[in-house]
Amino acid sequence: MNIRHFLTLKDLSPQELKQLIARAQELKAMHRRREIYEPLKNRVLGMIFEKSSTRTRVSFEAGMIQFGGGAIFLSPRDTQLGRGEPIEDTSRVLSGMVDAVMIRTFDHAAVERFAEYSSIPVINGLTDDHHPCQLLADMQTYAELRGDIQGKIACWVGDGNNMCHSYIEAAELLDFTLHIACPEGYEPSAELLAQAGDRVKVFYDAKAAVAGSHLVSTDVWASMGQEEEARQRKAAFAAFQVTPALMDLADKDALFLHCLPAHRGEEISEDMIDDPRADVFVQAANRLHAQKALLEFLLT
Ligand code: CP
Ligand code: NVA
Repeated sequence: MNIRHFLTLKDLSPQELKQLIARAQELKAMHRRREIYEPLKNRVLGMIFEKSSTRTRVSFEAGMIQFGGGAIFLSPRDTQLGRGEPIEDTSRVLSGMVDAVMIRTFDHAAVERFAEYSSIPVINGLTDDHHPCQLLADMQTYAELRGDIQGKIACWVGDGNNMCHSYIEAAELLDFTLHIACPEGYEPSAELLAQAGDRVKVFYDAKAAVAGSHLVSTDVWASMGQEEEARQRKAAFAAFQVTPALMDLADKDALFLHCLPAHRGEEISEDMIDDPRADVFVQAANRLHAQKALLEFLLT
């Protein structure tokens, strides 16, 4: 059997992504009805976290428990990974003990290397370059609250970071237009932009980018690992805060999403999360259902 990994969104075909989004909605409805569904009984997910997490950790761990299995949290501080045991060895060791591994780390090449040596599915729980699990939830949330995203305009406001990269891939897979509003010098990967072609456009003006958009999304200005650049970034991104007034330029049915954690007063105004166009807690809860759909897809 061919092992499937989930390192970037494009590890899925457009059809598979659509199926996962639909399945996430079904699993959410089953969860609400308190239906017991345990397709992963006695199966174990290893979770390696080299960066902090609330949503990713809790959603994967809760999802595995609900599916009848379990999850093991591994931090480099108290595993041999933190003492220099090679990734290649750790990967092969875990392949003999658990059924899948989720990794959150810095260098994207590290999860690729881990996957190369793994005989079980490897899931990217965020790297410096991609955050595909978050996009599963974001796309599920748009589908749930607004319907089909095909042909719509999404607007990414802020850093051309891991989230932005996964939005670019989502635009390709689900056939929507993506406007990216960022300061000069903070654009996303030129390679990903080139691959996406005309459907993705970079603006240096938030108002022009948001105009007419159906989905507006943003993220912190300094990601994990960029703490030392926080001051400089705050100045560079000052004109890229999402506010209710900026949202007024979007489509009248526009949805606002934020992967969280949010910094009020920086990338969003104090009142943005409580704006009726924002549904960030539905989005956060959907991490659970979207990743359960992913685990089911990879492991059954
Ligand atoms: N959005 C997200 O990945 O949140 P955590 O960092 O809390 O996992
Ligand atoms: N871009 C952010 C996302 C956090 C979920 C980071 O990498 O820190």
